[in-house]
Amino acid sequence: MTPMTIDIVQFRYAADNLGYLVYCDGSAMAVDGGAVDAMLDFIAGQDLQLKIVANTHDHPDHTPGNQALLRRTDAVHLTYRQLIRDKAVRLGGQEIGILETPGHTMDSLCFHAGKYLITGDTLFNGTVGNCFSGDTRAFYNSLKRLMALPADTIIYAGHDYVRESIAIARGIEPENPAFDSYLAAYDSSHVQSTLGEELAVNPYLRFNAEPMVRMLRHKGLRVDTEFERFSSTFGLG
Ligand SMILES: [Fe+2]
Repeated sequence: MTPMTIDIVQFRYAADNLGYLVYCDGSAMAVDGGAVDAMLDFIAGQDLQLKIVANTHDHPDHTPGNQALLRRTDAVHLTYRQLIRDKAVRLGGQEIGILETPGHTMDSLCFHAGKYLITGDTLFNGTVGNCFSGDTRAFYNSLKRLMALPADTIIYAGHDYVRESIAIARGIEPENPAFDSYLAAYDSSHVQSTLGEELAVNPYLRFNAEPMVRMLRHKGLRVDTEFERFSSTFGLG
């Protein structure tokens, strides 16, 4: 018997927040389920059962749907501690990997479901999150971990900041030819990109790209180690 594939659907709420339902073989997990009614409508329409409610991190714009989803379904809430202890979630016979990606906050997680990566406020389409934890090295290590995933990994982020992020990226790297096709593919009703596309446009993942390193050096910024290049790049925006 061939294993059931993992599907994912994106829900927009509160202007630019993005939440997700991951589902497989009739079972669903909500990640940052702020769009409660739309999610429950989808679950009913697809004859799914919501089993799990989870979050990419504990910021209040990512958790507002938790209580309503738990009240209106039989789902259980998996906490940060449970998720990092188990390192994976089983859903409809498939495994969803839990990646610890501290930096934006120390409790930031990414969910790796098949070819999909739900990145919360760690990695956005076109930019990265603020380092609210203050631990720039942890953030760097987290981004390095994501950058090592396959280039066709689809990035599903916690906010749609695409237009403003690409405007900033253009300011940092005016000669980068990749922005036009990236923006041409942008669809506010389904915000996504591949990791390969991010490596081409997202300035905060481009600290090893030759044009970026040249520009940093030209500005007199530190470029000797990879972490210095990351820190120099991170300071640009
Ligand atoms: Fe956040």
